Amino acid sequence: MQIKDSTVLVTGGSGGIGRAIAATLAAAGARVAITGRDRAKLDAAAAAIGAHPIHADVSIEADVLRTMDETIAALGPLDVLVNNAGFGVFKPLVEMDRASFEAVFATNVTGAMLMAREAAKHFIARQRGNLVNIASTSALRGAPNGTAYYASKFALRGMTECWRAELRPHNIRVFLVNPSEVLTDFSAAAGRPQKAANESKLVGDDIAHMVKAILEMHDRGFTTELTVFATNPRD
Ligand SMILES: NC(=O)c1ccc[n+]([C@@H]2O[C@H](COP(=O)([O-])OP(=O)(O)OC[C@H]3O[C@@H](n4cnc5c(N)ncnc54)[C@H](OP(=O)(O)O)[C@@H]3O)[C@@H](O)[C@H]2O)c1
Repeated sequence: MQIKDSTVLVTGGSGGIGRAIAATLAAAGARVAITGRDRAKLDAAAAAIGAHPIHADVSIEADVLRTMDETIAALGPLDVLVNNAGFGVFKPLVEMDRASFEAVFATNVTGAMLMAREAAKHFIARQRGNLVNIASTSALRGAPNGTAYYASKFALRGMTECWRAELRPHNIRVFLVNPSEVLTDFSAAAGRPQKAANESKLVGDDIAHMVKAILEMHDRGFTTELTVFATNPRD
């Protein structure tokens, strides 16, 4: 597809990987809408990127419906949804509380499904569209303390497989992108110590570069799943 003059919606585009994706696609000439829950952070990111801000939480169904309506009203028919909003809670199984577990699933799984559902209705009507799900290498294997977050990303990967099978006959490309560790506010949001930046670590722009690349392929084909590791990360 051609990024220039396309319409893109990035959930969680107010920070981290989502903001980098939004900025990269906007710089390539796309009209971009971004969502987030923190209004001040959202507005600052939108102003910096030249994006349309939509104050919305993907885990709230009314917000999802409003997000899709507002994006199309402000920017035109949607070409790309990037399902990026997500966060983690990391606890041993024996300490996992139901509220934390369900909160992770509400955003990372239910929120992604609601956004994809609304985008898919629009894409099916147009017989074209692109759906990029930002999962994680946590979708590929388990690890200690990963009960909630890893399971949510396995679920997103599973839904991606289903949506791909359903939507290909409508010329809709469904991508899964699995970043490994990327330096963002993700760790801080999960209450984990923020690792110091060094040049061996992935940054949001690395993931944004790859998302742009897979979208730019001719619409006759697509990359089903892309996993991005740091080459030799040092702490
Ligand atoms: N960083 C990593 O190492 C890494 C690795 C693999 C995959 N990922 C995935 O990449 C995605 C982005 O993570 P990140 O590292 O960029 O984290 P981040 O820096 O914490 O950014 C997350 C963004 O999502 C927004 N957000 C969170 N919950 C939301 C909700 N319910 N509705 C709407 N917006 C929401 C946040 O803004 P508000 O809080 O203001 O809503 C923020 O803009 C996530 O799905 C994450 O699981 C991250």
